[in-house]
Amino acid sequence: MLENIAALLEEVNQFSSSNKDEIEKFRLKFNGKKGILNDLFEEFKKVPNEHKKEAGQKVNALKQSFQQKLDNLKNSTKTEQIFEKEDFTKPGFPLELGTRHPISLVKNRIIDIFKSIGFAVADGPEIEDDWHNFTALNLPEYHPARDMQDTFFIEKDPDVLLRTHTSSVQIRYMEENEPPIRILAPGRVFRNEAISSRSHCIFHQIEGLYIDKNVSYADLKQTLQFFTTELFGKSKIRLRPSYFPFTEPSAEVDVYWGLNSETDYRITKGTGWLEIMGCGMVDPAVLQNVNINPDEFSGFAFGMGIERIVMLLHQMGDIRMFFENDKRMLEQFKSL
Ligand code: PHE
Repeated sequence: MLENIAALLEEVNQFSSSNKDEIEKFRLKFNGKKGILNDLFEEFKKVPNEHKKEAGQKVNALKQSFQQKLDNLKNSTKTEQIFEKEDFTKPGFPLELGTRHPISLVKNRIIDIFKSIGFAVADGPEIEDDWHNFTALNLPEYHPARDMQDTFFIEKDPDVLLRTHTSSVQIRYMEENEPPIRILAPGRVFRNEAISSRSHCIFHQIEGLYIDKNVSYADLKQTLQFFTTELFGKSKIRLRPSYFPFTEPSAEVDVYWGLNSETDYRITKGTGWLEIMGCGMVDPAVLQNVNINPDEFSGFAFGMGIERIVMLLHQMGDIRMFFENDKRMLEQFKSL
């Protein structure tokens, strides 16, 4: 029996054909109901016990070789058939173009506006230390203002956290560069907030920083007015007193949206004004923390949430949409 198997194995290995009928014959010969493999398994039952192990291994090896050979033959004839049927000189199907995410679109528009007045883009890590996210920004440990930004901590003592704003990039930049400084810091930020239609635990900010000699509050207002005119086509703004630990004085920026439609009434709660960002003159304590002399230099900073701006520009009602990646939403931004 063993010699017989060796011969059959040789036959299997030698066999080659691209003809479908021949391959089918080969299959039936070995694996048909009355095929060789079945016969061998019948024969195997009668093999004395002491030889069973060896015989079994041989029969199985034969079966595996046969199966492998058959698969190979089938695969290669399949490719050949495709080559016969298809016309490969035909042009291919067009690949569907993707779109930029609305967050990226608006972020790029904002960057373009500020680039045109001399701002550069700066980058920094999303995982931050306490110094860059809080302490250097005049938010010492145990300062109650830290509660304004509910934080995801990764490690304690020393604290490692997910940045709660991109102001940390401004600190890093000021540590490495001398004034004049004119930068934008766009990026992802993280806050431990309950997810709703208005807020999310991940969102995007764009912050700006300008440090030079004699930078004044009037420069800040003029810059923001230029920005809102470029982005929204609306030039009437007001600066409402507010509080941030890293700026003094601080303000919220409202844009006059108008009351020309029902939507205007709804989104401005009937006032015509819409809050779009925070800003202020950089606190001298912050400048001191990064070794910039506050008697020589002054500056302003501002920061806004990109999602909020996209929602205003495109009348979107739910911040969660930005993170679902639903193609029906994304495709609407194809032409932008
Ligand atoms: N960092 C502030 C925030 O995330 C925004 C801000 C930036 C305010 C710069 C004033 C000046 O809430």
